[in-house]
Amino acid sequence: MIHSGRHFLQIPGPTNVPDRVLRAMHRAVMDHRGPEFAKLGAEVLENLQPIFKTAGSVVIYPSSGTGAWEAAIVNTLSHGDRVLMFETGHFSQLWRQLAERFGIHVDYVPGNWRRGAPAAEVAARLASDDRHAIKAVMVVHNETSTGVTTSIAEIRNAIDDAGHPALLMVDTISSLGSIDYRHDEWQVDVTVAGSQKGLMLPPGLSFNAISEKALASNKTAKLPRSYWDWQEMLGPNRNGFFPYTPATTLLYGLKEALAMLQEEGLGNVFHRHNRHAEATRAAVRAWGLEIVCEDPREYSSSLTAVFMPEGHDADRLRRIILENFDMSLGAGLSKLAGKVFRIGHLGSFNDLMLAGTLSGVEMGLGLAGVPYNAGGVTVALQSLAPAK
Ligand SMILES: Cc1ncc(COP(=O)(O)O)c(C=O)c1O
Repeated sequence: MIHSGRHFLQIPGPTNVPDRVLRAMHRAVMDHRGPEFAKLGAEVLENLQPIFKTAGSVVIYPSSGTGAWEAAIVNTLSHGDRVLMFETGHFSQLWRQLAERFGIHVDYVPGNWRRGAPAAEVAARLASDDRHAIKAVMVVHNETSTGVTTSIAEIRNAIDDAGHPALLMVDTISSLGSIDYRHDEWQVDVTVAGSQKGLMLPPGLSFNAISEKALASNKTAKLPRSYWDWQEMLGPNRNGFFPYTPATTLLYGLKEALAMLQEEGLGNVFHRHNRHAEATRAAVRAWGLEIVCEDPREYSSSLTAVFMPEGHDADRLRRIILENFDMSLGAGLSKLAGKVFRIGHLGSFNDLMLAGTLSGVEMGLGLAGVPYNAGGVTVALQSLAPAK
């Protein structure tokens, strides 16, 4: 089918890249050892700090988010170390797998893929670890496969209440720049992030925000590392440079994206995401469909995962929507495949884009013969602009 107009990219990342960012990247590649690059490097490294809400170091890797996951592990841990992780969904599963490949023993607390990491369980596990064998607590802030957000403040309090010295490592790949996040205040030791979601960039950059405590662990951590080594990176970063060829073009884009977030104000960015998430959930409820996230306190503001009615295939619905309306929705991942579709409402996004997105879903439900109640879009519009 030939489509006109713009494709709707409503997966929960990569997200729509704003024209301003695209234009900023539309430039000749510069010498990454020259003075102009040093200025760009220093500027983006500094301007990233308020996004993570940290006064500490942030490093930028030319990689997808998985690289920053690996960097967090190899820079702080040693073969045979124990860590505590929680089965929140597909991405907690993958991070666990990565850790195990490095010989880390993961205490993996089972979950039903509808809840976040329970702070009470963190408290209990750490309280019973009186020999401090657990070296790190590793949590996915926003589980992109389920649309569930864990309260990192509560996890922090649980660690403090137990008086336990474990590092706290948090994956913010689908929350940074979309959902409130505070690296320093919550005393997170390593924050993992990626470029392609709330930061409104193409895929290709990943980040570690690093605490002083994590830097201290780095000195004794024995896992082999080379490309991901923080020390290799932090030295040249002091002058705005990188130890190897940086993703120059993406850094032009990053500079622009950070300026856009700063102009809008992070508080306003989070408010915008909250409104869109709220309106989306209102539509889902009006359609008579079920939201995957069980606990309203853990609703994600960057995406909403929705169960299909029994006997109806989410991938068929997504295909019908793609063919008819040129809109991509997120697939259900691993054990949720075919059962769930995910609506991304993060990044560069506004009310009318959400109205279009929800209209595509509602029309798709009709075309696919899925039982639903009409009128979800109307309810969402009322949520966005309540009649005076
Ligand atoms: C929460 C989360 N963690 C990790 C990843 C992996 O990142 P990447 O695919 O960029 O390697 C993703 C990707 O969507 C994610 O959503």
